[in-house]
Amino acid sequence: MTKFRYLSLADQFIRQLREGRYSADEKLPSIRQISQDLNVSKGTAIRCYEYLEDHGWVEAREKSGFFPGRKALEQLTASSAQHAHQPSAEALAAISPKRLDNKSLGLEIVRSAGRTDQIPLGTANPCVSFPGVKRLYQLLKKEVGKEELALTDGFISHYQTPPGAEKLRKQLSQLLLKRDLHCTPDQIITTNGAQAAVSLALQATSQEGDIVLIESPCFYGILQCLEAFDRKVVEIPQATSGGPNLDLVAAALDKWPVKAIIVQPTLNNPTGKSMSQENRQRLIDLANQHDIAIIEDDIFADLDYRGSAPSPLKAIDTQDRVLYCSSISKTVTPKLRLGWLVAGRWHERCQHLQFVSKMGLPAHTQNALGSWLEAGLMQRHLRLIRRRYQQRQQLFQQAMQAYWPEGIEYEVAEGGFLAWIKFPKQCDAMTLYQQAQQEKINITPGPLFGSAKANRHFIRINFGLYQDQPEYRQAMQRLGELIRQAMAS
Ligand SMILES: Cc1ncc(COP(=O)(O)O)c(C=O)c1O
Repeated sequence: MTKFRYLSLADQFIRQLREGRYSADEKLPSIRQISQDLNVSKGTAIRCYEYLEDHGWVEAREKSGFFPGRKALEQLTASSAQHAHQPSAEALAAISPKRLDNKSLGLEIVRSAGRTDQIPLGTANPCVSFPGVKRLYQLLKKEVGKEELALTDGFISHYQTPPGAEKLRKQLSQLLLKRDLHCTPDQIITTNGAQAAVSLALQATSQEGDIVLIESPCFYGILQCLEAFDRKVVEIPQATSGGPNLDLVAAALDKWPVKAIIVQPTLNNPTGKSMSQENRQRLIDLANQHDIAIIEDDIFADLDYRGSAPSPLKAIDTQDRVLYCSSISKTVTPKLRLGWLVAGRWHERCQHLQFVSKMGLPAHTQNALGSWLEAGLMQRHLRLIRRRYQQRQQLFQQAMQAYWPEGIEYEVAEGGFLAWIKFPKQCDAMTLYQQAQQEKINITPGPLFGSAKANRHFIRINFGLYQDQPEYRQAMQRLGELIRQAMAS
């Protein structure tokens, strides 16, 4: 079989990177060098690097060139795993199964985030002003037009029953390969966003009163789901390196009859942290040992600025116990409500639950996304939006430095568009949230991401929507004044 030249070239690089031919911080040959030395066109060299970047083998650094990427570094360094330790008595005493009660807070805050008369720094909506998003809407119009035309030809309007539109599932199985996930279209169920995927996964793997582990802080939609379905929840604090503290996970599994764990291992909402590959393996091992389901939410992974995030848990799951959930809500738009679920051994059950709760999803939205993916628009779109978010993070940091007081903790995100910001103890996030609301500035208070009273000194900011415009700068300035007042009190 003949292979594209850029792919053979990429294979050559992968072999060299695997063999450790380039050290961690060593610059790789430039496009011009490759083109001259290997007698290929510059276009071929560019496509080769794009491919290597998409697959995590190289990392493009602005104005500096190409360097070994995540996958290459994994081969080079045997990075330190979170090895097993006995957790402290204090840490153990702080966790126990509880029913959550955050409903009223959640609804109020999420509803008010939808208001259009405020500076939107709170809600986790992506920036949608990209040509790729516009193109998707054009394709959607086309799909609606096709259905309208068909009305005149004795058209029968069928339900688009689960697992969902075949065209879309075929494209999703290709898309998932980029996340190192090999699954056939038949193993994918299209869902009403990732929220519905997580909800189906939870219903399929546990029942009322069952114990489920989550990491803390945790996306509030998951907390709301656990509350609505009356599960008992053990909130496991996140480790400083990202992901749930695995010593506490192990202790909880020893102590209680846990049914499932819900995790967002890559670019967590709200902390932005990602679990190391070694810890992912340890979590899989623990799940295998204790026979529990893992519900994996991978919704932000494609926004890793290096172009390729660590492989999901599902990619190293040999026992089909990971239910993988994702959607286009963070990468393209949340409005179309399109997500997917690869449910492994719970596939039939999830499909049935989807059928009895939804009958199916609209056909035209699924087909439009199918056509969009088929046209190969995703990777270019991702490249553009990652760059935009990285730039906006810099602008946001500059505004923080200019207008906010010292003593505020914030880790620079490696992807996505969320910042998890910690204030000194005097500064209460709920008070700040309410004061900011009065000034028509929307932020998200930390307590939304855990059970009562947790994260009281944290807020989450969406820097993806931040712009270097007077109204945004004024909002940052005003927030700075409110924070100063709180810190002085
Ligand atoms: C981590 C996480 N999971 C799931 C969702 C819900 O996504 P969707 O809009 O696809 O239902 C969100 C939305 O903010 C999220 O941040």
